[in-house]
Amino acid sequence: MTYNILISDPLHKEGITPLLNHKDIHVDIHTDLTSEQLVAKIGSYDGLLVRSQTQVTKELLEHARNLKIVGRAGVGVDNIDLDAATERGIIVVNAPNANTNSAAEHTMAMIMALSRKIPQAYFALKNHQWDRKNYVGVELKNKTLGIIGLGRIGTEVAYRAKGQRMKVFAYDPFLSPEKAEKMGIAFGTLEEVLKTSDFITVHTPLMKETKHLINEEAFNLMKPGVQIVNCARGGIIDEEALYKAIISKKVAGAALDVFEKEPIHHHVLLELPEVIATPHLGASTVEAQKNVTIDVSEDVVNFFAGDVVRNP
Ligand code: NAD
Ligand code: MLT
Repeated sequence: MTYNILISDPLHKEGITPLLNHKDIHVDIHTDLTSEQLVAKIGSYDGLLVRSQTQVTKELLEHARNLKIVGRAGVGVDNIDLDAATERGIIVVNAPNANTNSAAEHTMAMIMALSRKIPQAYFALKNHQWDRKNYVGVELKNKTLGIIGLGRIGTEVAYRAKGQRMKVFAYDPFLSPEKAEKMGIAFGTLEEVLKTSDFITVHTPLMKETKHLINEEAFNLMKPGVQIVNCARGGIIDEEALYKAIISKKVAGAALDVFEKEPIHHHVLLELPEVIATPHLGASTVEAQKNVTIDVSEDVVNFFAGDVVRNP
């Protein structure tokens, strides 16, 4: 029996070795398919491997008559219709641990770039302007970093921020204050964190409960001059509310790795000098991409061998 696997997003070449080496698995790589082309092709596949670009919708799954497993090479499964997959008995596996470090490092890079206006100063200098007046930053030392969502990445960000001698203040409704205390991280309500932080970084999944968690009401609670970071998911922060908060000078700066709709080429937030951005690069390191791909590939191999999968 041969199992046909389709890889529809660019994944690390070496990471798929467990699939390529398996005698009963045949792999096709098609990373430029339109959603219509994918719908037309999916019927002949037993497994599908994606990153975050491919939208595994209900409609796609309705055409996936042989599909048994979807592997998500990364953490967020918000590009996969989990209810539709469950209805059809299709298992979804992800790789929740392998890009934690990269995402935490990217978050710290964004916080540091934001606080010292490095992208803006770089852009000016590349445009032949030696300007030292407009790019005065603020120190991180003794500033409060509010962390919303103290899971894998939020925790790693907390430890790194402490290394920068920041005060860390976290909110996570699913973590006990005792556990946060054991981790040496001060813990409060969402309102307390919003009211007291100089920098706020979000690290929750995108779900209906977290959609627009940072909205106009939340911005109203924040300190004037607060700086906002989102390296988690577009949509956790209400982009329109963020735009208004920057224009009104309530928010002094924002660093965004993710957007409500991706990919984007034009966006009003990108027109603002206070906003720095990267195109969803949080997990884009050689190490993370190799490891997330190995993790899901091994899970797919184990699944077809009838063995236990690690991250269903
Ligand atoms: P995780 O599941 O380990 O942590 C998420 C935390 O959010 C949990 O502790 C959970 O209790 C908490 N949470 C849930 N609902 C909440 C709420 N309403 N308010 C506050 N906290 C809440 O996930 P993770 O691996 O740390 O990933 C965090 C986010 O980062 C996810 O959205 C993931 O998709 C994203 N991510 C982005 C990149 C990137 O490339 N930018 C890379 C990796 C992960
Ligand atoms: C994730 O959820 O793992 C991230 O969005 C990383 C990615 O796949 O780009």
